[in-house]
Amino acid sequence: MPEIEGIKVCVFDAYGTLFDVNAAAAHLKDELYGKDAQLAEIWRAKQLQYTWLRTLMPDAYTDFWQVTQDGLDFAMQAVGLEDRDLRQRLLDLYWRLDAYPEVAAVLSQLKQSGRRTAILSNGAPAMLDGAVSSAEIGGLLDAVLSVDELRLYKPRPETYEMVLKQFSVAPDEVCFMSSNGWDAAGAAQYGFQVCWVNRFGQPTERLPGAPVKVLSSLHDVPRLIGAGA
Ligand code: LAC
Repeated sequence: MPEIEGIKVCVFDAYGTLFDVNAAAAHLKDELYGKDAQLAEIWRAKQLQYTWLRTLMPDAYTDFWQVTQDGLDFAMQAVGLEDRDLRQRLLDLYWRLDAYPEVAAVLSQLKQSGRRTAILSNGAPAMLDGAVSSAEIGGLLDAVLSVDELRLYKPRPETYEMVLKQFSVAPDEVCFMSSNGWDAAGAAQYGFQVCWVNRFGQPTERLPGAPVKVLSSLHDVPRLIGAGA
């Protein structure tokens, strides 16, 4: 028996889970005077905070591309960088982030086993199209779902519900993978069977909703759901 039973659909968070969000700053390490890691951390933290705050504040939704630019502007100011050209190059790189090395093989194993596969992301549809086509994984995905049509961000339950509507499945037939502890918690609280892909060795979030499995990469996902060796 597989460790995680009854899975019909495997759903992946995009940024941090399939695509390396630190890659944009890492590519420009020299131009960033070695501040790439610090900049990437603040950029990501502000990008996410703005999604949550804009979901809480009335009439404050703006798409993930805008939130990504706002997060970068905050981060550049925080580390003392003012350079329009550098800003533009960092943003351009965000449309073709590196996929983590195991991604294509894992998706193809899942597809071969007859599972359906999808992305569920905060990303604006055009950003997701860019990242998916640059990583050449479009043919391995049955759907790329963006919360943008709801004008709400994860972890609101309506966002996870998009998966049920798309595939006509029950929550516990969905295996959801996210490297974001808070997203893993939200999806587990919603009722998905969740693998938290703790790529960055983060402490456990003190939130409701527990993952069924904590992994360090996506490599073991097919085996855990009974879809591969
Ligand atoms: C996403 C962010 C949360 O792709 O990583 O939805």
